[in-house]
Amino acid sequence: MRVLVTGGTGYIGTELVRTLVGQGDEVVTFGPTTNMSRIADIAKDITIIRGNLAYGSEVFNAVKDHRIERIFHMGSMLSTTSQVNPWASFQTNVVGTMNMLEAARLFEVPRFIFTSTIGTYAHGAGKVVTDETLQRPATMYGAGKLYCEGLGRFYRTKFGLDFRSIRYPSVIGPGTTQRTVAQYNSWMIEYPAQGKPFECFVTPGTKGPGMYFRDAIRALTMVADAPFDSIQMVNYNVGGLVPTPSAKEIEHEVLKHIPDAAISYNPDPVIMDYYATAKVETFDDSVARKEWGWKPEYETIADIVPDFINEVRTNPSRFGLAQA
Ligand SMILES: NC(=O)c1ccc[n+]([C@@H]2O[C@H](COP(=O)([O-])OP(=O)(O)OC[C@H]3O[C@@H](n4cnc5c(N)ncnc54)[C@H](O)[C@@H]3O)[C@@H](O)[C@H]2O)c1
Repeated sequence: MRVLVTGGTGYIGTELVRTLVGQGDEVVTFGPTTNMSRIADIAKDITIIRGNLAYGSEVFNAVKDHRIERIFHMGSMLSTTSQVNPWASFQTNVVGTMNMLEAARLFEVPRFIFTSTIGTYAHGAGKVVTDETLQRPATMYGAGKLYCEGLGRFYRTKFGLDFRSIRYPSVIGPGTTQRTVAQYNSWMIEYPAQGKPFECFVTPGTKGPGMYFRDAIRALTMVADAPFDSIQMVNYNVGGLVPTPSAKEIEHEVLKHIPDAAISYNPDPVIMDYYATAKVETFDDSVARKEWGWKPEYETIADIVPDFINEVRTNPSRFGLAQA
């Protein structure tokens, strides 16, 4: 199948592209792609288009020229950069998604998969959020993603585009580059695995829901391949770790494998303000489980830490990391 992956050279996108190439798909990526190191091993197997989601013609050309049959739309500014520059975030995340949906409609791409975020829940959400919980985001990123969830649903009902989306919690894995509110949970494993100290920017008791990157990719391919009729909710929570571990509990697990890990705490007031607004601890994904059989393979932090450390030490270049 000819598949377009926007953001296909980013943190999660690269791993999705590896999976799609492995299953024989013809993959086209779309994005700025300034750094090729992470995809060096698969670059010869894919078509890389350098483009900006905000420019409709660039998006339309990519879809038309490659006769795309399925779109994974993952290109996005993330939470911190969206907060710093909400105007650019609007162009990339909101206008960019509208451009992709229009391209899908005009060039008759049957299926469109979008990645949204737990950040669409905040004010008043409480500790447990389900797909029915009122979404009142606290950030530019969350507001933009929520709008696009609704936009995709509109294209599904108005134009028959087979749109479906998943909301990730924090995706834990090697090689995350941006200091988003929950990325401490990846770096608390990655830095010690590389022999580096880690100063955690949340309090030891902070709990931010997360899932392992391998499960994040499985969730994407599963929702993408689910039969049309099984998709009723359309926009789905997908979870991983149950219950959500605190920062301190992640540290404990790391210390079991790396006893001399140097982890300290220096909470960032801006990030702690965010956690004061968004208190979500349980990201209920029961609808995804019921409608298309979702189930994470990595359900505890003990499942994740050894595999994560092994990947950092044996495959650093795959994740854009320096050799330890
Ligand atoms: N990483 C997480 O914990 C997490 C959590 C929730 C949702 N998500 C979602 O998953 C998707 C992938 O995120 P990621 O973690 O891989 O982030 P990432 O920053 O590594 O990837 C995002 C990609 O979007 C591209 N991009 C940014 N601006 C663009 C523009 N104007 N035009 C075209 N491409 C542009 C970037 O170059 C990058 O390749 C995003 O949609 C994100 O919102 C991620």
